Amino acid sequence: MQHIKQYVDEHRQRLLDELFALLRFPSVSADPKYKADVLNTADHVAQKLRDAGADNVEVCQTAGYPIVYGEKIIDAAKPTVLVYGHYDVQPADPIELWHTPPFEPTVRDGKIYARGACDDKGQFYMHVKAFELMMQTDTLPCNIKFMIEGEEEVGSSNLSIFVKANKDKLKADVVLISDTSMISMEHPSLETGLRGLSYVEVEVTGPNRDLHSGVYGGAVANPITILSKMIAAMHDENNHITIPGFYDEVIELTPAERTALNNAPYDEAEYKKDLDVVELWGEKGYSTFERTGTRPTLEVNGIWGGYIGEGAKTVLPSKAHAKISMRLVPNQTFEQITQLFTKHFLSIAPANVKVKITPHHGGEPVVTPTDSIAYKAAQKAIAESFGKEPIPTRGGGSIPIVALFEAELGLKTVLMGFGLDSDALHSPNEKYDIFNYYKGIETIPLFHKYFAELSGF
Ligand code: BES
Ligand code: MN
Ligand code: MN
Repeated sequence: MQHIKQYVDEHRQRLLDELFALLRFPSVSADPKYKADVLNTADHVAQKLRDAGADNVEVCQTAGYPIVYGEKIIDAAKPTVLVYGHYDVQPADPIELWHTPPFEPTVRDGKIYARGACDDKGQFYMHVKAFELMMQTDTLPCNIKFMIEGEEEVGSSNLSIFVKANKDKLKADVVLISDTSMISMEHPSLETGLRGLSYVEVEVTGPNRDLHSGVYGGAVANPITILSKMIAAMHDENNHITIPGFYDEVIELTPAERTALNNAPYDEAEYKKDLDVVELWGEKGYSTFERTGTRPTLEVNGIWGGYIGEGAKTVLPSKAHAKISMRLVPNQTFEQITQLFTKHFLSIAPANVKVKITPHHGGEPVVTPTDSIAYKAAQKAIAESFGKEPIPTRGGGSIPIVALFEAELGLKTVLMGFGLDSDALHSPNEKYDIFNYYKGIETIPLFHKYFAELSGF
């Protein structure tokens, strides 16, 4: 531990400056306008891996954005850790709500404000720097492979093709990912599951053209009103989702598992204060942790239609749209839930509108083992660097590729995230605590050390 602390101390400023340089790339994968920037980010990450001491560094081309690969094989007999992360970020919009520019990292109150600060540049870069530390101090105890992709925020569809085509190259013993949250720095935790995702877009069409809302209003169904009613009908008075069969495959937690989950520290007043809401909302009979970690949900992510410009325009629109996501838990599947949604949504549409449903990307839910060598290594690493045993939790977000690692590579994942739910991922003013960044760089070498040790090396 001493050599770790000393290395971080000696390189403190540079470690931060390098993260800032990475954060300045506007690597927004969803918006074609940033194509050149995303490609430049991949080259930059590759160079940083080379500088840190990785061999066979490659910017692997795909039909979309490239995957950055690099490795250090010290001894074929030793175990191999495959580190996954993503260099792409979510769009910064709404840009006017940022207090400082999203791609000009700024420190306020010990926190780095920038798009990607936590999700996932600040987190995957800790692995690059921890690797550098192990190389420089001659303490790398196992083999390491890096796979940093550029399309996580848009569904990783090209990564799944890459994984299927490169099983040998990606051979490893475990996947290690820092792209999730901890409860808090005082209550370090390890996520032991991720929810799946089904994401659909719906279009409701009424009359064949926009109409004068005075001339036709009152005589023709307004698609916005109809869509709103359909969406409102997706939850009942207990906030259960009304799609028939939606919960059929859901594995209920045992009373012991529920108790364990609900024992994690949780301050409801603080939670509400952070979000500025007077009351929480959710499925009756479940706690907040259960609602976000172990129960499926349905959310409207966006809704639009009609006139939304300046001033007033009297119009009865022809179309209304919404983007709807469903978070899934074991053993729901993306395909089955998408089908159930589609069937139900079409069935509740009144005859006065036409409904079109377009599925977007999705992913399967995962639960990660807590009895594996790798999980124990993560526990030991966190216990040592934080001075506290980590609490197991279930994450509400999705990293669809994790289920694919298991299906295609037969690899389990350890989710050793250092973010906080309050870091404003995907929101304006995303942030990452400088403390967490250094803490991550200090904890990761301990993971490798204990993983090698517990594997018999
Ligand atoms: N890193 C997040 C997922 C995450 C965040 C998991 C916090 C657990 C805790 C990831 O980058 C992400 O945003 N995933 C998307 C899904 C993707 C297909 C766009 C998500 O969860 O919405
Ligand atoms: Mn992420
Ligand atoms: Mn994300």
